[in-house]
Amino acid sequence: MTLKELLEKDLKFLLVGGKGGVGKTSVASALSIALAEQGKRVLIISTDPAHSVSDSFDSDFSSGEITKVKGVKGDLFALEINPEAAGSEISKAIGQDVDSNQFSSFAAMPGLSELQGFSEDMQSIPPPGMDEALSFAKILEYAEDDFYDTVILDTAPTGHTLRLLNIPEFLDSFLGRMLKMKAFIQNAMTMVKSLFGAKDEKDRTIETLEAMKEKVLIARDQLMDPEKTQFVKVLIPTMMSIFETERLVEELNHHLIPHEFSVVNMVNPDNQECQYCSHRRNEHLKNIEYIESAFPNNDITVVEAFDQEIRGLDMLSQFRNKII
Ligand SMILES: Nc1ncnc2c1ncn2[C@@H]1O[C@H](COP(=O)(O)OP(=O)(O)OP(=O)(O)O)[C@@H](O)[C@H]1O
Ligand SMILES: [Mg+2]
Repeated sequence: MTLKELLEKDLKFLLVGGKGGVGKTSVASALSIALAEQGKRVLIISTDPAHSVSDSFDSDFSSGEITKVKGVKGDLFALEINPEAAGSEISKAIGQDVDSNQFSSFAAMPGLSELQGFSEDMQSIPPPGMDEALSFAKILEYAEDDFYDTVILDTAPTGHTLRLLNIPEFLDSFLGRMLKMKAFIQNAMTMVKSLFGAKDEKDRTIETLEAMKEKVLIARDQLMDPEKTQFVKVLIPTMMSIFETERLVEELNHHLIPHEFSVVNMVNPDNQECQYCSHRRNEHLKNIEYIESAFPNNDITVVEAFDQEIRGLDMLSQFRNKII
């Protein structure tokens, strides 16, 4: 299936990821325009504090609110979440400092580290940082909400994406442990209350935790369903980018996230008169052959480097035309 055919399907989530600077935001933005122009209601989300989706569209989506993208035919909306700002808002709300880089507040919760098995969990599954947590919160929100036909996630460079992929497992394990602990405490409390004849008040914590766990599982199922989700890998034709993509593929396989599409971006155009250019191009073509053999079941889209930056609707539309 080609990327064009993929966009005609009813995809719920389109995740775009890869190494830093390879063109993830440009590809995510171009695909969001293509989907909106097909009549789909689309939301593009980024948690990049550098506001690159704004830069890509040459607009300002940094308000933290969902904003309609002007100038695109159809319903395209953008949301840029600033992890730093979101972190300080959560801090204000709970009256305690939240480390926006790492959810160390989880580990610092009184008594939690002593909880049997919890520290081992934290070691085997690295806790998410704030940006991944916010991205996953959006996945959770839209997994059961059909207001947007497709939600596109412009993900941060690979390392962050790997932590994002770990979140469902992390939350499942965390909530499971909380539920066990809660059930134990609740039983003990009921016993104590019945001993002293106290009236039992209904505690809804277990229901809340179970509902959260259920939501996480629903989102995880959608992320694993090739009819609902695709992770588009963006890379450039250099061995460094290829190696990083191979590591990413291992993780995507491990988490059962469908990833049948790759975009090889910034390939040197053909120019016989320039020795440097033809050297680079030959190297790129050789590496594309390697990519084709390394990802045999992938649809691979090759895009040449433009002679200018991909910025603003006009350039994004030209870029879109090269991708699909
Ligand atoms: N095919 C191309 N030709 C020319 N310039 C390109 C091409 N693709 C992307 N660019 C430019 O390269 C730069 C990096 O692209 P982009 O921001 O999309 O990458 P990214 O992977 O999202 O980066 P980051 O990891 O920082 O989020 C931008 O200035 C973009 O306009
Ligand atoms: Mg980017």
